[in-house]
Amino acid sequence: MSEENRPQQRAIRSFVLRQGRLTRAQAHALEHHWQDYGIDYSPKLLNFSDLFDNNNDVFIEIGFGNGESLIAQAEQYPQQNFIGIEVHGPGVGHLIHLAVKAGLDNIRVIRHDAVEVLQAMIADDSVAQFQLFFPDPWHKKRHHKRRIMKPAFIELIRQKLRPGGTFHMATDWQPYAEEMLDQMDSSEGFSNTAGKGHYSPDRGQRFETKFERRGKRLGHGVWDLIYRKK
Ligand SMILES: C[S@@+](CC[C@H](N)C(=O)[O-])C[C@H]1O[C@@H](n2cnc3c(N)ncnc32)[C@H](O)[C@@H]1O
Repeated sequence: MSEENRPQQRAIRSFVLRQGRLTRAQAHALEHHWQDYGIDYSPKLLNFSDLFDNNNDVFIEIGFGNGESLIAQAEQYPQQNFIGIEVHGPGVGHLIHLAVKAGLDNIRVIRHDAVEVLQAMIADDSVAQFQLFFPDPWHKKRHHKRRIMKPAFIELIRQKLRPGGTFHMATDWQPYAEEMLDQMDSSEGFSNTAGKGHYSPDRGQRFETKFERRGKRLGHGVWDLIYRKK
């Protein structure tokens, strides 16, 4: 039976889990500070004001990698709350290690598939900004089905953003940037802050990420896209 005709057993995920080794600092952070920064996945809506003990805006980053740039942002913007979602254990450990070092109290982390987290734990119309920085480009054509940017995902983001909230994406892979631009420009319910057909002229609040640095070393460009929920 061809792959297309096979009954779909489970949703295609945007990642393949390769956990890799934890450094000693990452393991220590996970063991001793998960209770301070970690949120266990459970299909129950989060209450942001209880979680952060304030009513500040909540920014959610999907696939933060090693967490470096998200930590820099949380340090720079103490009046905003941040939730990072990542499946890669060493990255989660690294983010917690950095959060402890910086003494941050405006950041939390969830180690689970972001699509399921959004569906089950995030209330509609509640998020000030979603961030999707350098999602896996899945270069090969036969892997494109794994790309996270799909109509159902875009609709999920729209649902969870509050009216006027923003969706900030970035990529170093031009064909993926073009696809994102097309998808987002034709999505009902969003407006392009740079004007239809245009990439963002700046990177907003985004700090340079590890994956971005790697792309630059390889001579790649960087494209940012920022859309506002109508
Ligand atoms: C190419 S890396 C980029 C990491 C980081 N944003 C950066 O720029 O350095 C993409 C990351 O997204 C994570 N990821 C992919 N799909 C995910 C999902 N559905 N939920 C949570 N994390 C995901 C991967 O584990 C990986 O760490």
